[in-house]
Amino acid sequence: MASEKRCSVRLLVFGASLREGSMNDRLASLASTVVAEKGGAVESATMKDFECPPYDLDVEQSTGLPAGAQALHDKLVATDGFVIASPEYNASMPGFLKNTIDWVSRFRPQPFNGKQAFLMAASPSMTGGKIGLWALRQPLEHLGARVYPDMFALAQAHHAFDDAGRIKDGKLQNWFETTIECFIDLVEAAKNYPHLKKQWVEFLGERPDKETTRVEMGETEKNRLSRGVGRRRRMQQFWRAYRREAHGGSRQRCPGRGPKLLRYSGHVRQRQERGASWTVSWPPAIGRDRCYEVRQ
Ligand SMILES: Cc1cc2nc3c(=O)[nH]c(=O)nc-3n(C[C@H](O)[C@H](O)[C@H](O)COP(=O)(O)O)c2cc1C
Repeated sequence: MASEKRCSVRLLVFGASLREGSMNDRLASLASTVVAEKGGAVESATMKDFECPPYDLDVEQSTGLPAGAQALHDKLVATDGFVIASPEYNASMPGFLKNTIDWVSRFRPQPFNGKQAFLMAASPSMTGGKIGLWALRQPLEHLGARVYPDMFALAQAHHAFDDAGRIKDGKLQNWFETTIECFIDLVEAAKNYPHLKKQWVEFLGERPDKETTRVEMGETEKNRLSRGVGRRRRMQQFWRAYRREAHGGSRQRCPGRGPKLLRYSGHVRQRQERGASWTVSWPPAIGRDRCYEVRQ
């Protein structure tokens, strides 16, 4: 089991419904259980913790950022990734969730940047709320979150849970667990193995200039490694994992955590040894007009 040797992974998990007895809260609670079973640590929350007034620049300038936004910001900073179970309202995400995301995006450094995310939905409908997740993916990717490619939508959610809070359909429960385990593997790899330095670029206009483009530098891998604290342990972890890959280690690999990532790391390392450094904007998937590759 992957959980035997897992390096520390801490995930924020919350349901994005304000309703008592919410199906999305039940799904979030099941996800928390699975994360813990797979060796991760869970920081639980509810959408009520993150409630904010409607976003208004005048309010922001006069009274600052609201307590709900501060609460989500603090939890994001304290965790390695987040899992949201969101209802779908009219083929999109709930307005209050988007509103909180907008408020939180005003913090600097902007806390969604570089965070791994997994999206889920529960709905009585046959689509399970999946269309709303595509809408939710958009602002999160815009803000630099690495949203996991697979998403989980629980259709006919009002009939889907058993008395123990698990999904009645055994195959679906199994698929849910496997997907979450793969996501944790990815978060673990992104956190603990040396990886490519990233830079978040938010492009707000037609022509990139100081007024329309906000650039926020992440921590460089070189800086991270040159900081004394934990350097030796990180390098040991890296080489141990590298050797395991090189000699065909027995541990099972999930998508996103495999030889490719490690070879990639080695490549970046070699470049850094030669004194070169490069940066890549994120997210790469949004489109050419919004995303640049920057080399220094
Ligand atoms: C205003 C409104 C719009 C909704 N639109 C959709 C929809 O487009 N697709 C869907 O699957 N469910 C839709 N629903 C049903 C919600 O997804 C459902 O109430 C939700 O999953 C309940 O989640 P909760 O139990 O976590 O509060 C809508 C519900 C409301 C109140």
